[in-house]
Amino acid sequence: YGLWLDYSPVENPQLKTQIDPLFSGFFFFGESPTYDVIRKELDIAGQKMLGKTPIYSKERLAQSKVWLGTREQLSQVLGLQQQVDIRDLGEDGFWMGPIDFQGKTYFTIVGNRPIGVLYGVFDWLKTIQTGAFDPRLQKSDSPKVRLRMLNHWDNLDRTVERGYAGFSIWDWHKLPGYIDPRYIDYARANASIGINAVSLTNVNANARILTTDFMKKAKVLADIFRPYGIKVFLTARFSAPIEIGGLKTADPLDPEVIAFWKNKTDEMYSFIPDFGGYLVKANSEGQPGPHEYQRNHAEGANVLADALAPHDGILIWRAFVYSHELDEDRHKHANLEFEPLDGKFRENVIIQVKNGAIDFMPREPFHPLFGAVKSTNLGIEFQITQEYLGQATQLVFLAPMWEEVLRSRTYRPTSASTVAGIIDGSDSGQKLTLMAGVSNIGTDRNWTGHLFGQANWYAFGRQAWDHSLTSAQIADEWIKMTFGQKPEVLSKINEILLGSHEAAVNYMMPLGLHHIMGWDHHYGPGPWVTGGRPDWTALYYHQADSMGIGFDRTASGSDALGQYAPELVNAYADPNQIPEKYLLWFHHLPWDFEMKSGKTLWEEIGLHYDQGVKTARKMKESWSSLESEIDPERFDHVRQLLAVQVSEAEWWRNSCLLYFQTFAKRPFPEEIEQPE
Ligand code: GCU
Repeated sequence: YGLWLDYSPVENPQLKTQIDPLFSGFFFFGESPTYDVIRKELDIAGQKMLGKTPIYSKERLAQSKVWLGTREQLSQVLGLQQQVDIRDLGEDGFWMGPIDFQGKTYFTIVGNRPIGVLYGVFDWLKTIQTGAFDPRLQKSDSPKVRLRMLNHWDNLDRTVERGYAGFSIWDWHKLPGYIDPRYIDYARANASIGINAVSLTNVNANARILTTDFMKKAKVLADIFRPYGIKVFLTARFSAPIEIGGLKTADPLDPEVIAFWKNKTDEMYSFIPDFGGYLVKANSEGQPGPHEYQRNHAEGANVLADALAPHDGILIWRAFVYSHELDEDRHKHANLEFEPLDGKFRENVIIQVKNGAIDFMPREPFHPLFGAVKSTNLGIEFQITQEYLGQATQLVFLAPMWEEVLRSRTYRPTSASTVAGIIDGSDSGQKLTLMAGVSNIGTDRNWTGHLFGQANWYAFGRQAWDHSLTSAQIADEWIKMTFGQKPEVLSKINEILLGSHEAAVNYMMPLGLHHIMGWDHHYGPGPWVTGGRPDWTALYYHQADSMGIGFDRTASGSDALGQYAPELVNAYADPNQIPEKYLLWFHHLPWDFEMKSGKTLWEEIGLHYDQGVKTARKMKESWSSLESEIDPERFDHVRQLLAVQVSEAEWWRNSCLLYFQTFAKRPFPEEIEQPE
């Protein structure tokens, strides 16, 4: 279970002839702890791909084959400014390609910093793993987003909030004395896809993580991750001044509270000099926050930001706020609170916004905060753990969903702006940029519970690095690195991956339906659920009645739509113009509303649910046909889970359709399998 870093043996003889000599002569133009981990990676890769221990030339430059170093290191020795100019590639970028020197050619990987060299090495190894290596190829690459971050929702007792892959990999009990080898594999995997920041603990935070004992434990992890370019963040509980500081208040304007955060933060940096900063969930779902003291989110965030600023730390403050007592439509809450605070947050604050306004639904339109503020750094939060998408039981490839969100046009600040352009700064102008993903990693042998959960971890890193990559490109890389390059394996798994998200949307919540899952566990269907709070009933979201179905968020309803740019308001206010995938998200419509297909809304709902089941069945059949191509262990693991997925897709379809039929009182379309 080496993830995508299994490095299977190179079988192609031509590739082998090209690669083999390279592993006999690596030359590093300097020293760095990051170069030590590069050597370790090359040792693993050399052994596994070629059965060969790499040779590192120290003195004999002329006998080497592969050169590695920073631009500065190389140019000091060789004066190479002419051939390699990577200044524009920023702190993390790299260049690789052949360099001619004194009549010989050397394959060279160069970065502005050692970490760029590591990223380049992983990219080079990937070209070997995917059969794309070309010794004449020149390539440069750099990330579009500065912080590419995993958010673990891991508790100190090792349970994981919405974790479906076992327990937390952080063994706080044995830290700081014992280093689990998994920490290193975890760092390798993250670095290989460009992830450079991790928040170790649950956003529903425990203040104990900020005590001296836990700082010592976190320091060990930070030391392990540092050569891999990964910075540690921790979640800060807003009431920590009371809980671990012995104060009577956590009021952010209280001088003692200000001093508490300053001292705590200084102490943290004495253990972890490059500590990333804090991630905070405040005044959300019962978490403490500034509202208890009649202070707003900016006042709350700024006290922590000020404590971090002298150390160049970053404060990430979440915008996942809603109030079940007040909200007529929870969709609107974040904009109502955060838009008036635009410009009031310190420069080192990033507001972390979920991709949609409700909560990681199978499909959501992008969050209306993107494009709504001018002077606030916004980061995006995706959820890799599939809380509402079959958890670790179902195969749902999330890259197409993230791609859809990132490419959505916001029409603000300019008519060409997209969500991606807001968060990478190209449209918004912000310098501090962030893409975060809620981790799906745990102690399970395969790391992610479902083998294909690995594809989502991989895809998140790749999209955070470069959101212009397509889901198909990412799928192709992951499949080759995980299952090899046989064309049949490649094309079938590719089709399975790329169709899986739409399938899940169809059999769970098609046409803009949302939040109709079972209460609390969030797993199976539950459109009939009447839960403990007004906004926790599924009825609040689907609003089915004898007349029709859907949530009216246009001006005649909650007007959440009015929080988007006028271009979107105009297009989406009209049920005949809005993309049908968002129809019931914004409209309450009669069961007989005529769809683009000419069929009624009721019929289309039935057809979508049925299509979801059919695709799930096809995924299962397609996988079964690969039995002879895939090792029995992984084959059987996925085969069993796909069988469960098909029966659960049927469960979703049958129960949702039968339930909605009690309002619609119409027969199911003839062409679908009749639910029972
Ligand atoms: C969801 C999830 C919670 C989580 C919350 C959050 O509501 O169910 O477990 O704490 O999101 O993102 O803060």
